[in-house]
Amino acid sequence: MSFPALRMRRLRRTSVIRDLVREVKLQKSDLIQPLFIEEDLTADTPISTMPGQRRFSPGSVMREATTLADRGIKAVILFGIPRVKDEAGSSADVAEGVVQKAIRQLKSELASDVVVMADVCMCQYTNHGHCGIVRNGEIDNDETLERLGSIAVSYAQEGADIVGPSAMIDGQVKTIREALDDHGFKDVAIMAYAAKHASSFFGPFREAAFSAPEFGDRRSYQMDYSNPDEAIREVALDIQEGADIVMVKPALAYLDIVRRVKDRFSMPTAAYNVSGEYSMVKAAAREGWIDERSAVLEILTSIKRAGADMILTYHAKEAAEWLG
Ligand code: PBG
Ligand code: ZN
Repeated sequence: MSFPALRMRRLRRTSVIRDLVREVKLQKSDLIQPLFIEEDLTADTPISTMPGQRRFSPGSVMREATTLADRGIKAVILFGIPRVKDEAGSSADVAEGVVQKAIRQLKSELASDVVVMADVCMCQYTNHGHCGIVRNGEIDNDETLERLGSIAVSYAQEGADIVGPSAMIDGQVKTIREALDDHGFKDVAIMAYAAKHASSFFGPFREAAFSAPEFGDRRSYQMDYSNPDEAIREVALDIQEGADIVMVKPALAYLDIVRRVKDRFSMPTAAYNVSGEYSMVKAAAREGWIDERSAVLEILTSIKRAGADMILTYHAKEAAEWLG
């Protein structure tokens, strides 16, 4: 037989054949759209660092969530920007808080199958912008735990389906699980930001949510990106503490971690395609340097290929259109 006997190109000849042999299929149902809600706004405001994204007013977020659901994006994660910030992040766990009200409205007015998640952290709520209670210039881990439990319960009380602790405070998953159970919310799931790295790719988000730390950085609680074994230990701990879903964040520079986590734990695994990853694509597309649609589909597929079951991404709304 003449070389080559096996011609890989045979199965690449037509789009129908390519569809038949495709291994990883990106679907709308894999995607979670993050939404920013700013208490003080009366109308949506574009986020300059994240072209195409907006801060929603309390009155407009419902419309956006409805549009998303109509397009097949049936999972959203909410981030609040409160009117008042203080040392203790007191606006984070009140019944009339910006996120609490939004959850209440979305859960009562959207189709019942829409999943409403809420990020559990303090950095948008503290005047210093750190993810917990600060004492003598440092985050007090254990004092923060109590606050995080209370925030998670306040979201559950309004009907949140899933809470996502993102503060990287040791013990946060255990504390939140116990607090939820104590309050009768045994069916509220925890998506743990388990391996969340101190990353330059969060920059645009911090502009969007006014949550950049006033002093220092987050390296004393978020992970060092040079430590993949430590990422595994972080994930193992969160599973032990009761996480239902484990997340790796960011996604693109961390696809090796996504793969290791999926292979090692066989857990429902999420990856957060963060703000900086989004804005880089938007900037290059705006300049005409890359084709946005094909780049986004390639990126999202790569995250799924690495082992993510679900992807938190600002591209969700547009990707839904492209995925048809
Ligand atoms: C809150 C939080 C952050 C992000 C998600 N939750 C910011 C941070 O840790 O500084 C970043 C998301 C993104 O960049 O898209 N802790
Ligand atoms: Zn935070």
